[in-house]
Amino acid sequence: LSVKKELEKILTTAPPHEFEHTKKDLDGFRKLFHRFLQEKGPSVDWGKIQRPPEDSIQPYEKVKARGLPDNISSVLNKLVVVKLNGGLGTSMGCKGPKSLIGVRNENTFLDLTVQQIEHLNKTYNTDVPLVLMNSFNTDEDTKKILQKYNHCRVKIYTFNQSRYPRINKESLLPVAKNVSFSGENTEAWYPPGHGDIYASFYNSGLLDTFIGEGKEYIFVSNIDNLGATVDLYILNHLMNPPNGKPCEFVMEVTNKTRADVKGGTLTQYEGKLRLVEIAQVPKAHVDEFKSVSKFKIFNTNNLWISLAAVKRLQEQNAIDMEIIVNPKTLDGGLNVIQLETAVGAAIKSFENSLGINVPRSRFLPVKTTSDLLLVMSNLYSLNAGSLTMSEKREFPTVPLVKLGSSFTKVRNYKDDIHVNLYFLNV
Ligand code: UTP
Repeated sequence: LSVKKELEKILTTAPPHEFEHTKKDLDGFRKLFHRFLQEKGPSVDWGKIQRPPEDSIQPYEKVKARGLPDNISSVLNKLVVVKLNGGLGTSMGCKGPKSLIGVRNENTFLDLTVQQIEHLNKTYNTDVPLVLMNSFNTDEDTKKILQKYNHCRVKIYTFNQSRYPRINKESLLPVAKNVSFSGENTEAWYPPGHGDIYASFYNSGLLDTFIGEGKEYIFVSNIDNLGATVDLYILNHLMNPPNGKPCEFVMEVTNKTRADVKGGTLTQYEGKLRLVEIAQVPKAHVDEFKSVSKFKIFNTNNLWISLAAVKRLQEQNAIDMEIIVNPKTLDGGLNVIQLETAVGAAIKSFENSLGINVPRSRFLPVKTTSDLLLVMSNLYSLNAGSLTMSEKREFPTVPLVKLGSSFTKVRNYKDDIHVNLYFLNV
């Protein structure tokens, strides 16, 4: 009850032009917070977790073997590419949106994404749009940069995800006293994870716009995954399902190596595919969860989702995602928690979901300057915004690079190393 009162107080501080969206945000937060209070105990019962049945995770080779349709353009014209762009570059020492960090020959993540889609549109004479899900942290800076692409053959849309209040770990009351997110309130708000995409995309009106234009699927991925290009074989598989049953959700998974044991894995749970994250696993089973032989694959967060299904489920309030409780300590030392959700966790709410086990090359995330060194090196070549690993490399995995702590920030890293392209003995 006191949280409700606090939220109402915060809402009264919203200026008229911010009132409506602040209200939507705070309503969304209230529902999530309510669920958080109600939930007792672990979100999965380990005993019910089963290995997914054979045909629920298809090898990519099988999908590829079905070939491509003659009408690639008409299939492509039913697609919308969505990049998750709510995150900052803090882990690499940057203040602004992560997507604006230069990763290869001064090209940023965003530049490479635009180049990839422009290439697709030019090759197939299509109009695949790019949509960026921004957060209040990234929206302004991203929009300033977008003018740069005015003459590219890619229509770019943006929408904002929600802004939720961080709560004091002890009192469970919001830290924010008003709607501002600067000054003393700088740390009082947060973007609630990429699971927010369903509600925010729906609320933005873009979902309906695209359905109205005849679009059928969105391809969603992390903007920092340089391997997440539009794959025509997967798209064809969705548009022409082999058993005639439309598949509402595809999660691209890839084989785990010992370096990715913490990634979420796909399991069979109560008759449906379910993503299980390490945070949900009871302590006694963590080693089993990490085992590369029992749970062989992990989620790349490259997802193909039916627009009509998102609309239906959103309107029925039927998208169910486990709550991730993320503890943080603010600069002043205050302990807070933020409640988040993950986009892939919704897989269990969709009909006829499928995993596709894709080659490792579709998972090329850049999380650290060590990852950056690899993508800047001659291990890869750049072609129309896509990176291809050198054929001289004998393994599908990348060499292990671990830069010391003086290189964790992009600025120092570039100043100190003074070269743009690194030559590795691949
Ligand atoms: P992260 O960098 O936060 O996550 O975001 P991760 O470590 O890869 O792990 P997962 O995918 O959460 O398991 C991944 C992508 O999601 C965006 C980021 O900008 C990045 O592209 N993101 C994250 C949002 O758009 N909004 C959020 O609230 C959080």
